[in-house]
Formats: sequence, C-alpha cells, structure tokens
Amino acid sequence: MPDTTDITAPYASELPDGVELRRLVIPQSLDAADAADFVAMVRARNEIYREINGNDDESNTPAEILPRYQDEIYERNLLWIVLREGEVVGRAILTLPREDGSRVAFLNVELVRSAWGRGIGTAAAELLEKTARDEGRTVLQAWAVHDEDATAERLGAPTGFGTIALDHTARFLRAHGYSLEQIERKSALPLTDASYARVDELIAEARRASEGYRIVQWTVPTPADVIDAYAWMKSRMVTDAPAAGIEFDEEVWDAARVADHERPYLESERTLHVTAARHIASGELVAFNELVIGADRTEPTHQEDTLVLAEHRGHRLGMLVKCAALHDWRTFAPQSPRVITYNAEENRPMLDINEAIGFVPVAYNGAWKKTVR
Ligand SMILES: CC(C)(COP(=O)(O)OP(=O)(O)OC[C@H]1O[C@@H](n2cnc3c(N)ncnc32)[C@H](O)[C@@H]1OP(=O)(O)O)[C@@H](O)C(=O)NCCC(=O)NCCS
Repeated sequence: MPDTTDITAPYASELPDGVELRRLVIPQSLDAADAADFVAMVRARNEIYREINGNDDESNTPAEILPRYQDEIYERNLLWIVLREGEVVGRAILTLPREDGSRVAFLNVELVRSAWGRGIGTAAAELLEKTARDEGRTVLQAWAVHDEDATAERLGAPTGFGTIALDHTARFLRAHGYSLEQIERKSALPLTDASYARVDELIAEARRASEGYRIVQWTVPTPADVIDAYAWMKSRMVTDAPAAGIEFDEEVWDAARVADHERPYLESERTLHVTAARHIASGELVAFNELVIGADRTEPTHQEDTLVLAEHRGHRLGMLVKCAALHDWRTFAPQSPRVITYNAEENRPMLDINEAIGFVPVAYNGAWKKTVR
C-alpha cells in the first residue's frame, strides 16, 4: 500500500512567495476523489521531459504511471508536487529501497523550465535530503539529463568515459554537494527496413558463434517453467552491470518478486517482451533482453535490462538476444518508430553491440552522488 506518513515541508519558510510543496497521496484509482493531484503531477512530468528531450519519447499516461507507485513492496516512494500560484510546476520524489540495511536514497527534483533559478529546486532538494537523513539514508543519488551545449564548459566522469555540459542542472547538483560519478549514454535505433535487414544479418552471425545456446521468448506474465531462472538473472543485473561510484543494494529475486515486478506492466497494459538464451548442455537461462511498449504501439519502444551472465560471455549472446528481440518487433509493433536504450558510457562491450545494430547516441545523463553523515 502507498505510504501516507505525514511529512511536513521543514523548509516551508524558505520557499519563494507563492510556492508550495504538497505531499502527494497516491490515489487508489484515477477515478478516486483525490486523484487530481496525481494526474497534474503526470502532466507536469511529461511537460518537463518534453522540454528536456525536445520530444515525447518519455511521455507516459497517468494509467501507466499509477501502478508503479501503488506497489511499495521493494521500495518506498515519497512524492510531493511543486505548486506556484496554485499551478503544478514540478515534482519531488524520494525513493527508498527496502533491501535490508539499505543506506541509499534516490532523489528526483524536476521543474518546468520557467520555474528554474528562483530557489524552488533548492527548497525541494533540501526537503528530500532532510527526509532521506531522517530515514537513516546516507548515500544520496540522482540522475539528470544534461544539455547538449557544445559551447559549454564540460565536466568529465571519474570513470574516464564521457563528459557532460556544465549546465544549470550540473551547477545545481554541484552547488548542493553532489559529485558526478558516471555518464550514461541514451541511444536510439530507428525502426526502419534497413535496421531490420541489419538485425537479420547480425542474428545469422551471432547464431554461428553461439551454437550451444538456443533462444527462448515470452511476453509477461513470465511462464512458470522459466520464472526461477529469470529471477536469478534479474538478481544479477544490479551486481553485473557497471555502476562506477553509484551504490546499489544487492537484490534478492524469486518468482514472487518477478510477479510483483510485472504487475504494473500488466495493469497498465504495457507489453514487456523477454528474449533469453538457454545453454543447451545445462538447461540454464544465461542471457536476456527486455523490450517494452505501451498499449499505443505507435510509441517509441524502450529497451530495459540486457544481461549475459559473466560465465557465458564471449559467445555473442548479447548480440543474439538483442537481435532476436528486435526481429520479433517488426511484426509485433510495426508502427513503433524507434527503440531507446541507456548504457553506461564505460560499458564498451554493450555499446559495441548497440553501435553495430545501428543505435546512435541522442543524449548523455549524469549519475550523481552525495554521501552524508
Ligand atoms: C535541477 C533543478 C531541479 C534546479 O532547480 P532550480 O529551481 O532551478 O534551482 P535553484 O533556483 O534553487 O538554484 C539554481 C540557481 O538559481 C539561483 N537562484 C536564483 N534565484 C534564487 C532564489 N530566489 N533563491 C535561491 N537561489 C536562487 C541559485 O543560487 C542557483 O544558482 P547557481 O546556478 O549559480 O548555483 C531544475 O533545473 C530542474 O528541474 N532540472 C531538470 C530535472 C533534473 O535534472 N533534476 C536533477 C535531478 S535531482
């Protein structure tokens, strides 16, 4: 159930005139009497992402977002809407994983551009930080999209891979004590006939290099015969993907957690399609890729997790599962214009695969961290 603990803004007195940070109660349904703030929050979210990205690729409907916040089994989400003169101009979200002994909190302050530079972001960030500390969290982390301003001063990640423009958001995070830990590349693949032809060529090559493996595919809900194997691979995602200085809790996954994870997709009629590789000799599932699209299949597709278990690397299984998934997409979502994916800028093996398929970089995100006592 949603957390409804009453947390009053401790810095309300420092808020600029006319600005209010209002705790958002997650409604039971979109028809509920108290759903208006939630719907306004989603509208502001989509407007902010449209301003940042210059397109609607990250837009979601309230019906797609609501189920994500209704389940609080593995993390708590504390949300506020930011109002200026009564109009919703942003949101502030604190995510607290529920893994045992977790020290981490994820902060997210997002404002429409016309509200920037007035001290509102500072007040919202202070509220989230105070709440995180009160909850005993000491590792505060945030992701941000940065401007593609080639003339701006650049900031490099300590990984040595990638730079971002020192834009308004980067200055804001630095001023509040956050350090840039990692850069994440956002890439897009146009879903054209030429891309599909390339995918088919690459599948043929990958099959030759992966003779001891065969493809297994399903659309969630994950069938019972593969759910335990899939749960194991999901648990490896946080430990095996390059995280640089960003701290993630180890996650325990079982069949029940897979079902809990899939429920919001099913409730919001989003399709999550999984393509996995089975090691024929042992029967184990050892690699997987996920593609997601909403009920409206003219929308962009999002590629979520991709992983090859460490002991099975070197057989082109990453290429195999990605291309086998994309091959299906031609008949499954023929009107989806592109696929979007995110990868660590230092994750060369994964970027090599994406670049060979035809993904091109469209933006760079920063992963930021601040450790408090
Ligand atoms: C990052 C973000 C939340 C900052 O919000 P903001 O309201 O612009 O931040 P503030 O106004 O508090 O601070 C920004 C600057 O305005 C200055 N400022 C202007 N008027 C101010 C006032 N009345 N009071 C305090 N600071 C003021 C601040 O000093 C600061 O100056 P600096 O850039 O020289 O350091 C906002 O830019 C945003 O929504 N970005 C997109 C989403 C995102 O990436 N969020 C980051 C992940 S948490």
